[in-house]
Amino acid sequence: MCGIVGYIGEKQAAPILLESLSKLEYRGYDSAGVAVLDGGDINIVKAKGKLSCLAEKTDGGKNVAGTCGIGHTRWATHGEPSELNAHPHRNEGGTIVAVHNGIIENYIQQKSKLTRLGYTFYSDTDTEVATKIVDYYYKKYGDPLKAISNFILKVRGSYALAVMFSDHPDEIYAVRKDNPMIIGVTESESFLASDVPAILNYTRKVYYVGNEEIVCLKKGQADFFNLDGEKIQKQISNITWDAEKAEKGGYPHFMLKEIHEQPKVISDTLNCFIKNGEINLSEVGLTNKEIKKYSGIVIAACGSAYHVGVVMQYVFESLVRIPVRVELASEFRYRNPVMNKSQLFIVISQSGETADSLAALRLAKSAGLSTLAIVNVLGSTIAREANKVLYTKAGPEISVATTKAYSAQLIAGYVLALRFARVRKTASKEELKSLVAELSGLPEKVQSILDKKNSMQRFASSMAGKKDVFFIGRGVDYAICLEGSLKLKEISYIHSEAYAAGELKHGTISLIEDGTLVIGVLTQPDTIEKTASNLEETKTRGANVATLSFGSRKITGDVKFTIPQVNPYFAASLAVVPLQLFAYYVSVLRGNDVDKPRNLAKSVTVE
Ligand code: M6R
Repeated sequence: MCGIVGYIGEKQAAPILLESLSKLEYRGYDSAGVAVLDGGDINIVKAKGKLSCLAEKTDGGKNVAGTCGIGHTRWATHGEPSELNAHPHRNEGGTIVAVHNGIIENYIQQKSKLTRLGYTFYSDTDTEVATKIVDYYYKKYGDPLKAISNFILKVRGSYALAVMFSDHPDEIYAVRKDNPMIIGVTESESFLASDVPAILNYTRKVYYVGNEEIVCLKKGQADFFNLDGEKIQKQISNITWDAEKAEKGGYPHFMLKEIHEQPKVISDTLNCFIKNGEINLSEVGLTNKEIKKYSGIVIAACGSAYHVGVVMQYVFESLVRIPVRVELASEFRYRNPVMNKSQLFIVISQSGETADSLAALRLAKSAGLSTLAIVNVLGSTIAREANKVLYTKAGPEISVATTKAYSAQLIAGYVLALRFARVRKTASKEELKSLVAELSGLPEKVQSILDKKNSMQRFASSMAGKKDVFFIGRGVDYAICLEGSLKLKEISYIHSEAYAAGELKHGTISLIEDGTLVIGVLTQPDTIEKTASNLEETKTRGANVATLSFGSRKITGDVKFTIPQVNPYFAASLAVVPLQLFAYYVSVLRGNDVDKPRNLAKSVTVE
C-alpha cells in the first residue's frame, strides 16, 4: 500500500507535499519522493527509508522550488525498496512524471510491448511502465486526457495515478481504479491524496474520485472527465470528522481495522497463488523438481509467525506425508540443531527483520539447506537473504498485535502444502480441487464471522475482569489456541495459557478454580470428543467454559461460538477471527493502548 499526494496553488508545493505525505505514512513506507514543476522544469527528489530522509534531503521541502507537485510514500510491491524504484517515475526526457498506488497486473506484457517500440527502463517497477504508457499515448495524441484514457484501456489491475506534464505547468492529471483517491479544493488551491487525513490541514471540501474517472487539477479547480473525455459533474463533500479517525478508516484502532481487512488480505494472497483453479507458485520460483526432492521441512519463526508454523506442521504432515519440524527461531539458533541438506528450511516473518528468525535463516543457509521465506515486507532482510521468497499480500500492518499478516501467512502455508501434495501426488486431483475451492471460499466465511462480531463483544464484556484464561485444543485446534492466547495476553495483559488439551491433567488442571475461563477450540473432527471431555473436567472444577466449533455436534459449554464449516485443515483461518475480536474487545474494555501494548515493539530486531 503506498500513499500519493498532489498540490497546485500559490504556495511552495514541496513542504505541503511532505506534510501531507506524513499523514499517509501509516500506509507503509520504505522510500518516498516528490516531483515539483517549476515553470517548464520538473525536479524529482527521492530518498530510501522513512519520509524523514526525504525531508532531510530537501530541507523540509524548502530546496525544491515550484507551486505544483506530486509526492509518494512507497510500500514496495515490484522491485526492492531503493531510490531507483522509489516514485515519482519519469519518461525518458523527464517531461512526464507520475506517482502510483496499486498494482498494474499486465505490466510485464506492457513493458515488452514498449521495449519493442524502443523504450528502455531504469527500474523494476510497474509504475515506470505506467508512466511510459502515458508517455507513449501523449506523444501519439498530444493530449493528457487522451493519453490517460488510453492508459485506462491498456492496463489491467488497480491504480491511483497522478501525472504531471512539463508542457502543462499549471495542471496535475489523475485517475484511479480500485485504489482510493480524493481531491480537495480551496479558493486558490487543489490537492489530491490517497486518503482524507493528508489534506485535512488545508481543506475539508473533498471530491471522491470514481473508478476510471480522470481529474484535471488547476489552482482552486478540479474538472472531472469520463473515458470519452466528456466532462462530468461531481458532488463535493464536507468532511466533519478528525484526521486521526480518518487514518484508521473510521475504526477506533488499527487492530480493528486490520481484523476487518482480513477477507481482502486472504483473497489478495490467494489470487496471487491460485491460477485457473490450481496452485501456482511461479512467483516463488519453487520448481516441481525441488518439491519432489526434499526429505523434510524445518520451519522456524517467532510469536504468531511460529503459530502459523505449528498449523503448517499439522497440514503438511497429514496432507503431504513429509516430516516437518517447527522451531522457535530464538531456540533453534542456539541449539546446534541437526540439519540435513536435503531438507527445505522455511522461515516465516511479517516484518522480515526479526533478529532471531534472521539468525535461524543464516544458520540453515550455512548448513547448506535450501531456504524459503514467507514474508510480508518486500525487500526486507529476510526476504533478501533467503533463496526463495513467498510474499504475503497483507499490506502494512500497524497494530503491534498481528492479525491480517497472521492470516496471510496461513494462506501461504496452505498453498505451499497443496502444491507439495499435488507434485508429490499425496492427494488426488479431486481432493485438491475441492481444497482449492474451500480456500477460495475463506474470504466470504471470514466476512460472515466479522458480521457477527457483536456476540464476541458481549462475551468480552462479561469476561474482561478475568485473571486467568486457558485455551485448550488438539492438533490444529491447539495451534489456534496458541494464537488466541497470545493475542489475549499481548493486548489485554490478562494471564493466559494455551494448552494441548491432553496435557491439562499432567499438571495444569490444578490451576483451574471457580470462575477460571477455559476456552475450548473444537474444529478437528477426530478429537472433538476428547477435548470436550477435557472441558467437562475443567467445568467440574468450577471453570466457566466457552467453546468455538463448527457447531455440528453437541458440546458442553456455558457459551458456544460457532464458525462456518470449512475443511478442518483450514479451520485456523476462521477460528482465529473470533479470538482476535475477543482479545481486542477485552483490551478496549480494560482501557489499554490496543495498538501499542506495553513493553512490545512491532518489529523485534534485537534478541
Ligand atoms: O515480524 P515477525 O512476523 O517476524 O514477528 C514475529 C513476532 O514478533 C510477532 O508475530 C509477534 O508475536 C506479534 N506481535 C504477535 O501479535
